[in-house]
Amino acid sequence: MGRKIVCTGRGGTGKTTFVALLTKYLPHPLLVDADSDQNLADMLGVDLGEEGIRTISEVLFDIQKERSYEELSSLPLPEKIEYLLNTSCLYESERFDIISIGVKWTKGCYCMPNNVLRSIIPKMADSYEYTIIDSPGGLEHLNRRVVSEVDDIFVILDPSRKALKNVERMRKIASEIGIRFSNLYLIANYRFKEDVEEYIQDIGDYLGKIEYDPLLEKYSWSGKSLLELPSNSPALSSVEKILKRAGYKLR
Ligand SMILES: Nc1ncnc2c1ncn2[C@@H]1O[C@H](COP(=O)(O)OP(=O)(O)OP(=O)(O)O)[C@@H](O)[C@H]1O
Ligand SMILES: [Mg+2]
Repeated sequence: MGRKIVCTGRGGTGKTTFVALLTKYLPHPLLVDADSDQNLADMLGVDLGEEGIRTISEVLFDIQKERSYEELSSLPLPEKIEYLLNTSCLYESERFDIISIGVKWTKGCYCMPNNVLRSIIPKMADSYEYTIIDSPGGLEHLNRRVVSEVDDIFVILDPSRKALKNVERMRKIASEIGIRFSNLYLIANYRFKEDVEEYIQDIGDYLGKIEYDPLLEKYSWSGKSLLELPSNSPALSSVEKILKRAGYKLR
């Protein structure tokens, strides 16, 4: 079974950037964009809209409203969803595959497809060595429970007391809603000063800091893929060190 990774943290801490940088080091991962902003593909230089790729929410919405897919009407719902996710929602490329959940997928609506989906994403993940989920900011998203068995949760922290408190709340919520994980790793974002790092070490399994990288900022801004950052990029080197500390074998 593949390794499932969730990247989380408060808004704007650098979660999506971290996931994009992980893609550089892990062999052909499945990326799951669980944020409604859907900017993970952009950071990897792909415009999913232009590629004709739809979000899972869009497809589920159509199924719910019985708007389309008459040609699939004989298929039972789980098979129909699985077929559509693989054909309309999955973007495949040499370095990574990516699927986006989209905006309309919230707790309370589309219950039936959601339940089906919970088994389909882990099933898709089974055919990848690594699946990385990019979460929206905050903790509410945990309710979406894209997967309930996680190997590693990476929490990207900003230098604030709130961020540290959030870690405890997250552990609590994860256990309340039944998300099982093997490791919860803490990472300081690029805004940390050295002297604050010691506080993090007291609250959990701290892996290090992601260095500030002006070129990365420029690439993000201009839509250039972060996979093209030069190998001496400070942010890339930080991610490499962090992964090694977490025991990953890198490509
Ligand atoms: N190491 C870094 N050096 C310089 N800028 C960075 C670095 N990491 C992230 N940034 C910048 O910080 C901003 C926020 O990053 P990002 O979008 O990855 O955060 P996020 O946590 O995913 O945000 P959201 O909560 O909105 O999803 C971006 O403009 C990004 O370019
Ligand atoms: Mg993000």
